[in-house]
Amino acid sequence: MAERSEEALSWSNFWQAELSRAFAADEAQEQALQNFWTAACSSWNTKDRVLDIGCGNGALALSLAAAARETGRTFSYTGLDQAAINPPSHSDFEPLNVVLRDNTPAETAPLPDSSFERIVSQYGFEYCDRKAVRTKIAFWLVPDGTLSLLVHSQDSQLTAEVRYTLEQFRMAEESALLVLVARLVSRLHQLGGAETGDRQARAMRELINSTCQELTDKAEPMPNPYFLRNFVSVCLGFFSSDRSHIPHDVRLANIFEFSKQLLFQKTRLEQQQRAALSEGEIDESVAHLENLGLRCKRREAFVFNAEHFGFALEFVKR
Ligand SMILES: C[S@@+](CC[C@H](N)C(=O)[O-])C[C@H]1O[C@@H](n2cnc3c(N)ncnc32)[C@H](O)[C@@H]1O
Repeated sequence: MAERSEEALSWSNFWQAELSRAFAADEAQEQALQNFWTAACSSWNTKDRVLDIGCGNGALALSLAAAARETGRTFSYTGLDQAAINPPSHSDFEPLNVVLRDNTPAETAPLPDSSFERIVSQYGFEYCDRKAVRTKIAFWLVPDGTLSLLVHSQDSQLTAEVRYTLEQFRMAEESALLVLVARLVSRLHQLGGAETGDRQARAMRELINSTCQELTDKAEPMPNPYFLRNFVSVCLGFFSSDRSHIPHDVRLANIFEFSKQLLFQKTRLEQQQRAALSEGEIDESVAHLENLGLRCKRREAFVFNAEHFGFALEFVKR
């Protein structure tokens, strides 16, 4: 299992690529998320202070900004994330007044008590040490303040996709395809590109081709086999004629970079799998928050296009 610092690093790496949200959402999903937050903030007052836990590059802030714009309101938004983020410019979040604190784990975030009317999270709260953060939330909220959470659940479509992808990762790793690709590129480097007649290079190429075919065949009957298909296609791409002008040492460096990115992706997926809450874990969070003085006023599956995308939870502080 990855260390906590590696987990943060895997997200830092993701956010540095200037991605706007954690999951590739199609238009319908984006609209569903926008609708969720538009409804959640419909009763908020202008200038309410909002805290977003696990804010990433500000996807939720953008949803709140759109809702605020439509209704002529503004909110004072603070986003927290334990990773290093790389959000768009502050003007993209207008009319919100935005403060983003990265490299700041929620468990130890130095925020004063009773400093927020609203606390929110879009697939962020469940990644944290939930018990510690629930206690913090109870301190940070003002009386009558609200907590709105969208969390991963074990039975959701997103979690099923993570499971499929991790299974494909396992198959890719077991095949050792990337190691074979790196070996052949090194061999070609030794041969100065003159592969013809070299038995070792020929044997490696045959093994690479048969491994690619095997992985492609295994992917065929799988639900959402995108990871494996892309993996095979990138591996083969290292030998494509379009890239023949690229020096072998640069190709090797590219293979190394590709494998590093794969490890980051795997670390993120494993976190997501662990973060997905069971019904029992949701019960536990609800009971703990109730004990801390927050009444649960909404607990339901977040569904669109007839598929589950986690749980929606809302609380109000007594
Ligand atoms: C799935 S992403 C969600 C990001 C964003 N809310 C979105 O919808 O795009 C989870 C985020 O939670 C952050 N995170 C994980 N553990 C955290 C912690 N203990 N404190 C603060 N942020 C954390 C990760 O760094 C990551 O950016």
